[in-house]
Amino acid sequence: MSPILLTEDLTMTYHVGKVDVHALRGVNLSVAPGEFVSIMGPSGCGKSTLLHILGGLLKPTSGRVIVDGEDLAAVGDAQRTDIRRRKIGFVFQRFNLFPTLTADGNLRLAEHIHGNHRSKAELAELRREVLGLLGLEKKLHHKPLELSGGEQQRVAIARAVINRPAIILADEPTGNLDSENSEIVLDMLVRLNSQFRQTIVMITHNPEAAAIAERIVEMRDGRIIRESQPDRGAKRG
Ligand SMILES: Nc1ncnc2c1ncn2[C@@H]1O[C@H](COP(=O)(O)OP(=O)(O)O)[C@@H](O)[C@H]1O
Ligand SMILES: [Mg+2]
Repeated sequence: MSPILLTEDLTMTYHVGKVDVHALRGVNLSVAPGEFVSIMGPSGCGKSTLLHILGGLLKPTSGRVIVDGEDLAAVGDAQRTDIRRRKIGFVFQRFNLFPTLTADGNLRLAEHIHGNHRSKAELAELRREVLGLLGLEKKLHHKPLELSGGEQQRVAIARAVINRPAIILADEPTGNLDSENSEIVLDMLVRLNSQFRQTIVMITHNPEAAAIAERIVEMRDGRIIRESQPDRGAKRG
């Protein structure tokens, strides 16, 4: 099966004043449709930069980045944004919810931005499934500050997946959560991956969190230095 995400010789150099920061120095990564991949590595090794490029938020300095058959490095900003809206859901460490909107309002905004052409009935069905899976039905009318950190991250995940994107990109999604809430959030990602076959790439510092994936990619200094398959034991059955 052809990969849903593919990078070839991807480089990214940031220019800070007169200094060049080589954040990515030739990354070759291939992710199969429906795969769950974790990315690990020390702070500053380029993980977020890679994720942002995969998701079309940043344009690389050189190399190719193919997302579901489309080369993000070769298209203009508008088209890249369009591909991102259709295909990618982002989950960040800081939940990035709109504080003045309720959970429901945050989700409706995501549906609106996606601009999808689904019927009302279809939209309602997608919402029902996602909210049920994430256990959020009773929290829909709460604003972010009226929710716990774990609940806020579940709303953020719901927002990322409400339009059922093919790919979910998560940048340290449990970085601000205690261990109990981390476990809940990781469990939700595993379920989204297995139930809806959504491809997931998740950055994490936590080896236990990384081990819920099917493959762990380790980065150092702008490069992939190792790939391994975790012993997932009973975690995913
Ligand atoms: N917007 C930016 N401008 C300049 N340098 C950046 C920017 N974003 C990241 N960097 C630098 O690029 C390198 C990789 O950063 P990042 O991708 O955030 O790593 P990680 O997520 O692994 O901590 C670091 O040296 C960081 O300081
Ligand atoms: Mg980062």
